[in-house]
This record gives sequence, structure tokens and C-alpha cells, in this order.
Amino acid sequence: MRICRNTSLKPFNSFGLEYMANIMIHVRTEKEAKALFSGEIKWKRPLLILGGGSNLLFTGDFTGTILCPEFGRIRIEEQTKNDVIVSAGAGIKWDTLAEWCVARGFSGIENLSGIPGNTGAVPVQNIGAYGAEAGNSILKVRTISTPDGKVRVFDNEECKFGYRSSIFKTSEKGKYLVTRVYFRLKLKHDPELNYGSLKEEVKKLGNPTLRNVRSAVLNIRYSKLPDPGVIGNAGSFFKNPVVIKATAENLMKDYPGMPVYDDPSGNKKLAAGWLVEQCGWKGKRTGDAGVHEKQALVLVNHGTASGKDILKLSEKIRKSVMDKYGINLENEVEVI
Ligand code: EPU
Repeated sequence: MRICRNTSLKPFNSFGLEYMANIMIHVRTEKEAKALFSGEIKWKRPLLILGGGSNLLFTGDFTGTILCPEFGRIRIEEQTKNDVIVSAGAGIKWDTLAEWCVARGFSGIENLSGIPGNTGAVPVQNIGAYGAEAGNSILKVRTISTPDGKVRVFDNEECKFGYRSSIFKTSEKGKYLVTRVYFRLKLKHDPELNYGSLKEEVKKLGNPTLRNVRSAVLNIRYSKLPDPGVIGNAGSFFKNPVVIKATAENLMKDYPGMPVYDDPSGNKKLAAGWLVEQCGWKGKRTGDAGVHEKQALVLVNHGTASGKDILKLSEKIRKSVMDKYGINLENEVEVI
């Protein structure tokens, strides 16, 4: 366990914001995490578990305790004729795992290639992209309960996965530290290419092999989404709003070009990026807080914006979408 005091948060948040953390604790083993949560070691609340810092917006210094899970190792747990169970420690970079699986011919998470962040954040957020959601491949999630330091394993159903959501973000928020995630992957690749331009992008590379799907996803991501290493951002700032069918139908009458998708709930999902763009925000900036020029759903820090500047910009965007379309945008990014 490594305990750091008065640490700059700049390397720990993908917006590149310059705030300070009072106490930051790096844990490498379950034994260390248990010691922390069973009361053996005293620490100051509130607690923030950092899963790579690629989906949050700090708006000030953090005065509680930041926990950085650094559980490592990717393992093959079990292999049958059709399936393989792979587990990864919460501290493994997600895309390292995605590449590791593609390299071995294990299919299920290749469409999620290139998503920043660590594996521990994957079930919390139920990351998704290009027609795939992590929750569909997660078998179980091993955690440590933060009130008492006990191990608890959640099976897929108990995780209550939804669109960018899980039990770890809703009713049990902050109560469990993810230590290891288990994935059930396929040995036979059944490519999922129905999202947007993925099929065409794969075709340019040849057959729809696992490797080509991964490469195509990475190409699309690089062409649309800014690299947080170059320009600070946290991916989509807002969720795509889910509305009842009648609301979508009314809007479609007035705006026939509006993208609308079916949601598994029977409702309709609208494209927040489209709504934000139609309100004239794409490529706009106020000082160093801006809206990305190629994807209006992504807010960016052009250099010296503060978390509050970015938050203010997001509030203005939310208000204009509400005024024009009567739709409330919810944050996808967690504001701290
Ligand atoms: N659109 C616009 N203008 C824009 C952006 C999008 O008109 O500035 C339109 C597109 O033309 C398209 C539709 O909106 O018709 C959807 O756009 P896109 O395919 O780019 O995806 P998205 O719905 O904006 C979601 C995820 C992304 C994920 C992509 C690809 C959310 C909140 N975002 O974005 O996830 O990479 O699909 O699957 O669900 C993230 O979560 O951080 C993230 C980047």
C-alpha cells in the first residue's frame, strides 16, 4: 500500500485539471484493501474510488481520500469447447485487456477497443460502444465491501446492468470496491457490425476477423474522439436521452432528420450529440472550455479551463437543449 499526501490530481484525470488530493491511497492486493476497510487503518471520508479518471470532472480540490485500485494480472480461469473465462484485476488498463483478448482469439469485447480507463470501472459504468456493452460479457465481479472489508462476488444479474449503469453506480454506490472482473468470452467470433459505419470500416481492412474489427473500431474512434493525452476530455459528457415513444414521434414530425434508436426498454433513445450540434454548440469554446469539433457530445479542455468552467459550459448546453427540444440531458460524466 502506498499513501501519498497533497498530490496533484492532474495525471489522474483525463480532463487534465489541476486540483489537489489531500490523501491518495494506492492498493495492490485484496489483503491491503481488507485492512483499509476493516478498520485496521484509519482514513478520512468521503471516499472516491478512481478507476482511471477518464469519466469524471473535478470541480475543486478533493478533501477526503482517493483510492487507486492497482490490482493486476490477467488470467485464463477456465476454457471449454466454445467459451473461455478470463479475469482481470481492477487496475489493468481496459484496452490492454481488449488487445490481450483479441491477440488470443477471444471474442466479446473487441467492439469496446480503445475505451480509456481501467477494468475496475468497466462494470460500474457498464461501458458500451459500437453495438456492444461490457455487461453482456461479464460473468461476475469480485469486490470488497467498503463498510466492513468483506469479499462479495456479484453475478451478472446482481450487477443490474443498464445503459451506462449498474448497481455499483446506483443503489450500492460507494459501497463496494471492485477488485477483479470475470468475463465469459467466445472462442468462435460472431462479429457484431451493425453500428453506424463499422461494417464499411471493417470492409476496408478485409474480412471481419477479430483483429480487423478491433482495428476498425480504433480507426473510427481516432477519427471522431479526441485523444485525452493530447486534449483533455472524458468521452461523452452526456448520456443519450431515453424518452417515451410519443415524445420521439412528436419530435420526428418537427425534425425528420433526427436520429432515433430503439431502446431495449421499449422506449426510444435519442442522440445527445445530434441535439447538442443542432443547438449550435459543435466546435464552440468559451475560453479553454469547449465542445469538440467532431463530436458534440464531448466537452474538452483546450488547456487551462477549470472544472467549474467546463461544468458551466455543460449547464448552458443542457439549458439550450431543454429550451429547443424539451429534452433533459443527464450527465454521463461524474461531477465531483
Ligand atoms: N451526431 C451528430 N452530431 C454530433 C455527434 C453525433 O449529429 O456531433 C449524430 C451522429 O451522426 C449519429 C448519432 O448522433 O447519427 C450517434 O452518434 P455516434 O455514433 O457518434 O455515437 P453517440 O451516440 O454520440 C455513443 C456513446 C459513445 C460511443 C459511441 C459509439 C453514449 C453517451 N456515447 O455516442 O461512448 O463511443 O456511441 O458507440 O452512449 C462514452 O461513453 O464516453 C463514449 C464516447
